[in-house]
Amino acid sequence: MAKMEVKTSLLDNMIGVGDMVLLEPLNEETVINNLKKRFDHSEIYTYIGSVVISVNPYRSLPIYSPEKVEDYRNRNFYELSPHIFALSDEAYRSLRDQDKDQCILITGESGAGKTEASKLVMSYVAAVCGKGAEVNQVKEQLLQSNPVLEAFGNAKTVRNDNSSRFGKYMDIEFDFKGDPLGGVISNYLLEKSRVVKQPRGERNFHVFYQLLSGGSEELLNKLKLERDFSRYNYLSLDSAKVNGVDDAANFRTVRNAMQIVGFMDHEAESVLEVVAAVLKLGNIEFKPESRVNGLDESKIKDKNELKEICELTGIDQSVLERAFSFRTVEAKQEKVSTTLNVAQAYYARDALAKNLYSRLFSWLVNRINESIKAQTKVRKKVMGVLDIYGFEIFENADNSFEQFIINYCNEKLQQIFIELTVKEEQEEYIREGIEWTHIEYFNNAIICDLIENNTNGILAMLDEECLRPGTVTDETFLEKLNQVCATHQHFESRMSKCSRFLNDTSLPHSCFRIQHYAGKVLYQVEGFVDKNNDLLYRDLSQAMWKASHALIKSLFPEGNPAKINLKRPPTAGSQFKASVATLMKNLQTKNPNYIRCIKPNDKKAAHIFNEGLVCHQIRYLGLLENVRVRRAGYAFRQAYEPCLERYKMLCKQTWPHWKGPARAGVEVLFNELEIPVEEYSFGRSKIFIRNPRTLFKLEDLRKQRLEDLATLIQKIYRGWKCRTHFLLMRKSQIVIAAWYRRYAQQKRYQQIKSSALVIQSYIRGWKARKILQELKHQKRCQEAATTIAAYWHGTQARRELKRLKEEARRKHAVAVIWAYWLGLKVRREYRKFFRANAGKKIYEFTLQRIMQKYFLEMKNKVPSLSPIDKNWPSRPYLFLDSTHKELKRIFHLWRCKKYRDQFTDQQKLIYEEKLEASELFKDKKALYPSSVGQPFQGPYLEINKNPKYKKLKDAIEEKIIIAEVVNKINRANGKSTNRIFLLTNNNLLLADQKSGQIKSEVPLVDVTKVSMSSQNDGFFAIHLKEGSEAASKGDFLFSSDHLIEMATKLYRTTLSQTKQKLNIEISDEFLVQFRQDKVCVKFIQGNQKNGSVPTCKRKNNRLLEVAVP
Ligand SMILES: Nc1ncnc2c1ncn2[C@@H]1O[C@H](COP(=O)(O)OP(=O)(O)OP(=O)(O)O)[C@@H](O)[C@H]1O
Ligand SMILES: [Mg+2]
Repeated sequence: MAKMEVKTSLLDNMIGVGDMVLLEPLNEETVINNLKKRFDHSEIYTYIGSVVISVNPYRSLPIYSPEKVEDYRNRNFYELSPHIFALSDEAYRSLRDQDKDQCILITGESGAGKTEASKLVMSYVAAVCGKGAEVNQVKEQLLQSNPVLEAFGNAKTVRNDNSSRFGKYMDIEFDFKGDPLGGVISNYLLEKSRVVKQPRGERNFHVFYQLLSGGSEELLNKLKLERDFSRYNYLSLDSAKVNGVDDAANFRTVRNAMQIVGFMDHEAESVLEVVAAVLKLGNIEFKPESRVNGLDESKIKDKNELKEICELTGIDQSVLERAFSFRTVEAKQEKVSTTLNVAQAYYARDALAKNLYSRLFSWLVNRINESIKAQTKVRKKVMGVLDIYGFEIFENADNSFEQFIINYCNEKLQQIFIELTVKEEQEEYIREGIEWTHIEYFNNAIICDLIENNTNGILAMLDEECLRPGTVTDETFLEKLNQVCATHQHFESRMSKCSRFLNDTSLPHSCFRIQHYAGKVLYQVEGFVDKNNDLLYRDLSQAMWKASHALIKSLFPEGNPAKINLKRPPTAGSQFKASVATLMKNLQTKNPNYIRCIKPNDKKAAHIFNEGLVCHQIRYLGLLENVRVRRAGYAFRQAYEPCLERYKMLCKQTWPHWKGPARAGVEVLFNELEIPVEEYSFGRSKIFIRNPRTLFKLEDLRKQRLEDLATLIQKIYRGWKCRTHFLLMRKSQIVIAAWYRRYAQQKRYQQIKSSALVIQSYIRGWKARKILQELKHQKRCQEAATTIAAYWHGTQARRELKRLKEEARRKHAVAVIWAYWLGLKVRREYRKFFRANAGKKIYEFTLQRIMQKYFLEMKNKVPSLSPIDKNWPSRPYLFLDSTHKELKRIFHLWRCKKYRDQFTDQQKLIYEEKLEASELFKDKKALYPSSVGQPFQGPYLEINKNPKYKKLKDAIEEKIIIAEVVNKINRANGKSTNRIFLLTNNNLLLADQKSGQIKSEVPLVDVTKVSMSSQNDGFFAIHLKEGSEAASKGDFLFSSDHLIEMATKLYRTTLSQTKQKLNIEISDEFLVQFRQDKVCVKFIQGNQKNGSVPTCKRKNNRLLEVAVP
């Protein structure tokens, strides 16, 4: 999906004001407050027109991501919130598209973020410019030059842990497409004094610490170095470690960067050898030695270090030693050698170290330039990035020659800034055809003049003093200044004739003070002459030239005796002035873009905004003037198209579309809004608004209007939505209605159809019935006719039959009568021939014949001999009924007898017993039927075989009729215990089931009665004879599954032994004797869980309840 282009503006969602040109009211306080407010909201960038103010956040902000790069890419400067990327994009696009060379001037004091800003600009440009392997390599080399130069040119200072100690201007070159081709770096005045001495709390250049921390053992050995910082005089020890800086890791980064930039391995090594040599030079110490001529001569204390340096650099030790002891002055073919005293020797040593290092640095820059220079000769577009040391003021008059030079450079930059901003403003007005009104602002040209004027400028004075014959000291230089510059309004000195400062105690005698644009700076004059001269004794440079170390040799070309040049080399001051002049010239040809860095606090800490400090910077950076200049004519300007686009909704004619040219549209718009004509001017391509108030009014109106428009859009959208919804509903309703109607019609049709069918069927039915009725009627008529006919025929036939029957009867009667008559006649005739009782005989014979036939037939029909066969042939003659029954009975008895005759004696006994049982219990006790099928086994328990019961068996001599385990009911509580129930011929015995020990023995004569219920239970009582021995405890109560068998056997045995019938009482309530008590045993129907086993419960003294199933 295509990303929707959202047009925004710097004016949207502003924190404070994004462009301080719009600040109302405009004064120092509002500017600071605005910056503070934005800083507190992490908005570190603010515009003044096209100038970007950057406040160092001292923390990493998430605003430099690749997404941000994409956001700012190809967007108008004012489209998004202020950002360094917006400026970079503007510069890059105007370079690429409008063919204008650009320069990006980054200024601000030390630690304000200039170097970071320059890197951000470079990385942004690298990210948005062309791609491709070759282009990427160029980009990479350009970017990687930074770590190398930072290692050698940056150092920790009290203001900044990574302070650039040199000025850097880098030209990035592009082809016509905007692809980078290469670059050129110019460096300005490395602060070389740092090599030999660092202020308190500061370090030497990073590379020394990086080499000692990160160099491998092998490398350090080769360089004859030791890892311990404290071994080296040139390294400050109190701040050798910087928080958050990993020197060792940085060393690897630098080596890697050198490789990427294109340093050969041997070159990188040579560079490190020079670094090592510089470090070791610091360890050479001198001692005084008196000479015969009374002069002091210096001697090297310990030659070991010197020896190692010479080994490292390939210099003859004696040559170097001599160079530290003598100074040769040549003048007009004459050579004069003088010895050096100790102080001079130290001076020479330090001068050599400083020169060696600063020349190495310049060599590095050149070497990098060689690598990154554009390979083609085509015309190039150039973007210059200037990151130059910021304005520097040390307290306590510690400002020296370096600060003077640095501040001079800043003064020049301020000048160019003023010139260019004013010029640009002016040019824009001319370009746009707007009248230019002059604005008052402080022009620092006068200060620049004080320093650089060729005849009486401070630098010229210094050069003059340095070149003057005779004794030249810093004091003579100051005197000269006092003479020449005393009247200058920005120069202050105590010694000057001007009475203004005679009593100013804050101005020491050895100092002079300059009122820079950024504030007053007190310069200590000591060292000015020396530093300006930048003298390196010729003996030393010649010694260096003699080195076999190629790099060192090349660093000191003046040491070549063949090219001896008696002319003095240009002084440091004049060199710098010249290079600054070149730089300024260079910058003036380019379109400037400004980044003005502000340091929010002195503590290098995030979130702290020191208003005093910022106020000072705002003052000397001239930001207020900058805003004023920008606003002098018109505070705000905008091309007609975006202006119309932004405000067209404020006027009916321009909203929503303006057909004509944008300018005319804006005119109409402004007229319509009744903005006073003096508030704006029409340029050629831009509208100029004089007062920010007007812009804010426009913005307010726009905001209001946007809200109205939003409401309108909302209204229309809602209306549209409702209408669409309504239309959809209506459409749906129609569809539904159509469907419904169709359905209803279908339904109605179906109904009508079915009704028609019903009616039809009724009518048809009715018709059919009518026809049927008619048919039936017809049929009935026919039938009636037939019936009548039939009846008629019947009647006729019956009449005929009757007549015939009558006739036949009559005929028969006639025949019978005739027969009887004949019979009578015959009998009368034959009576005399028959006996009187012949009839009886015939009857008997007939009877006999029938009986015979009956029996003969019965013989064949006799049923089977099974006594249970119920078949019997049917009776043939009624009169034989009783005979037939009798015959059946006789036959049955006969076949039963036959059946019985087959039994063995034992079977007989069993059947006898069964018969006995039947007689005793059939239809009396409900348990009986279930016992019929069970064979009576008698001794269920095989006492003979079970060894457990051996004793029991031995105690019983008689034959055992029953041996079975029964439940003996406890008389007292109705609970039951298992007992072995034994019946012998004469006795009844109870024995313990487990042990087999006899518990009770009752002779059968003492058993009087057996009682049991009529129900389906095995409960029974054995009543004993009153007074008998066995009856002492009372009657027995038992329960057994084999009750029928036991009772039968007991009955039979008693009968056979005592010839008395044992009384068997079958009743659901009977009495038993327990000792003295008569207890009623009552059977109740109970819900039994354990089958047919009854449960007993002794209710009280008189009642024992037996629950039976
Ligand atoms: N945009 C930024 N975001 C985060 N931190 C920053 C930013 N700009 C600067 N800093 C922090 O401030 C420190 C100082 O910045 P920088 O080295 O750029 O200062 P400088 O102006 O170049 O100072 P000098 O003049 O001493 O070289 C950086 O090391 C970094 O920690
Ligand atoms: Mg810097």
